[in-house]
Amino acid sequence: MTAPGMTAPAAGSPEPGAHDPAMRHEQAARAALIEACRTLNARGVNQGKAGNASLRWDRGARAGLLVTPSALPYERMRPDDIVWLSLDTVAGATPDDERPAVIDADGQRPSSEWRIHRDLYAALPAAAAVVHAHPPHATALACLPEIQAGGIPAFHYMVAMAGGADIRCAGYATFGTQALSDQVLAALAGRRACLMAHHGIVAWGAGLAAALALAEEVETLSRMYHLARQLGRPAVLPDDEMARVLAKFADYRPGEA
Ligand code: 13P
Repeated sequence: MTAPGMTAPAAGSPEPGAHDPAMRHEQAARAALIEACRTLNARGVNQGKAGNASLRWDRGARAGLLVTPSALPYERMRPDDIVWLSLDTVAGATPDDERPAVIDADGQRPSSEWRIHRDLYAALPAAAAVVHAHPPHATALACLPEIQAGGIPAFHYMVAMAGGADIRCAGYATFGTQALSDQVLAALAGRRACLMAHHGIVAWGAGLAAALALAEEVETLSRMYHLARQLGRPAVLPDDEMARVLAKFADYRPGEA
């Protein structure tokens, strides 16, 4: 089923580079990335030009990804603006040059967070889509030292959607740097989503719809946790209960990362 606001899969056999089963053709995949970002903004999970999204997409023998361009409003973004990068892309020649050394000839400048997307696909074979957003409640929580140190605890069983008994918070580093990508990858060890200190969230999935839904879930849980904290100190589910929930999730949504 296609999630609301998402492009329906194109007919015909999938192109060889596709990984998300719902994204069969590159042109449809490019359009779906833009629509995903517009959906995040429309649902209050992101705003303005913030955030970025990508799909794993190979070209021949070259493993790679399609990623949104940098600093372009989503309302103005067109499929041709999406940038393809190979997974072996490296940063520019000088230490201060944060841009990729080689950019797809027909593309715009890729998202400044291209290294998060590249590194995540390289590290996690199950990831077919990655979403980065600046949701208000999740980001507000990610500014608190307590959350930065311990993440969002298991105040609600749905915390397990992120893959563990809490939702970790990646340490702070300047946006668009390798240091930030390293922090995000560390926070995502064994997980599908994390907060980012003083910044936002990252979520990945076996497809774009799953990554989008998880980003929205993390923001919903953050809003709930924020509300509960206004009322008092929420109780936290014990580890053995979260282990049961994680086991049930594996069975409840088989194959749906
Ligand atoms: P880009 O427009 O370069 O993707 O940057 C947005 C962002 O959220 C950086 O963290």
